[in-house]
Amino acid sequence: MKTFISGIQPTGDMTLGSYLGAIKNHVQLADIADTTTYYCVVDLHAITVRQEPQRLRDFTYSVAAWYLAAGLDTSKSTLFVQNHVRAHTELGWILNTFTQVGELERMTQYKDKSKQHKHNVNAGLLTYPVLMAADILLYNTTHVPVGDDQKQHLELTRNVAQRFNGVYGDVFVVPEPMIPKVAARVMDLQDPTSKMSKSQESNGTVYLKDEPAQITKKFKRAVTDNIANVAWDPIEQAGVTNLLSIYCASKGITPEQAVAEFTGKGYGDFKTTIAEAVIAEVAPIQNRYKELMADKAELDAIFKKGAEKASAQAETVLAKVKDVMGFVR
Ligand code: AMP
Ligand code: TRP
Repeated sequence: MKTFISGIQPTGDMTLGSYLGAIKNHVQLADIADTTTYYCVVDLHAITVRQEPQRLRDFTYSVAAWYLAAGLDTSKSTLFVQNHVRAHTELGWILNTFTQVGELERMTQYKDKSKQHKHNVNAGLLTYPVLMAADILLYNTTHVPVGDDQKQHLELTRNVAQRFNGVYGDVFVVPEPMIPKVAARVMDLQDPTSKMSKSQESNGTVYLKDEPAQITKKFKRAVTDNIANVAWDPIEQAGVTNLLSIYCASKGITPEQAVAEFTGKGYGDFKTTIAEAVIAEVAPIQNRYKELMADKAELDAIFKKGAEKASAQAETVLAKVKDVMGFVR
């Protein structure tokens, strides 16, 4: 029996990168027999960078609505909001005492974000991965489906779990990362050396809510190269390779199949075909998203049910942790 958990921060409009690298795979995992899946809107992670209250609230609903619009079935999967399950912060505190400051300072996300937010290098930014470890370890998670950028955090989670188990016995399941074969790191269409991100404004970011005409325009303007040949070469042809990976993830095909389809074709046709594939993928989801966002009461009901299911599981692991450590309960 495999158990999966993943989290998405409610920090901006959903990008094609998070959809292809995460949500689309998450929804598919939930449909496989004999899997338990938890998907969490990680609002407590989001506040490590200052958030405007109304935006935090709106994006919390928005992340959940995209999951549901993409087809997540809440009878098979638990969708919840991190702050609704108190065990996360409680275990996070405990795990702080099993994490060395030095290992947190080595995290690339911490280094990047502390450069970006020089005026607010708060302690939460540093201990962010410890809370993430708590998110994962509370659910006896076996696999964590995430994009490439989260690999290092997963390694830290494994180290923390092993360290705790080394002292107190096998309390935690030590999870494995699960990184997709394509679209593990969708890059910005205007700058194929930087990750497409919802927290950074760029004309090279495709948002799931973009109208078809906007999507086409963004793909037509995508940065390529002057080699004029469609090939899979992340170093020499980063832009073209990024477009290919978007195409593969949208259509569910391999890089070889995609490359074969475009041999001898010019970049113009290539870009248009990819834009069409993306539009075909997102258009039906957009309609459903709008309906869901118009009914916050329904989303609140889903959150309530999700929090109850998640709490029941999380509390059992937290109780075990407290018992082995000698806390009086
Ligand atoms: P975030 O939106 O940063 O909270 O990330 C949510 C999930 O999407 C994580 O599993 C990330 O690894 C993944 N993700 C975010 N951006 C990208 C991207 N540009 N390409 C692939 N996966 C991504
Ligand atoms: N740190 C992840 C990100 O920035 C989000 C996240 C928080 C997460 N908790 C998690 C992912 C637990 C997987 C499992 O994208």
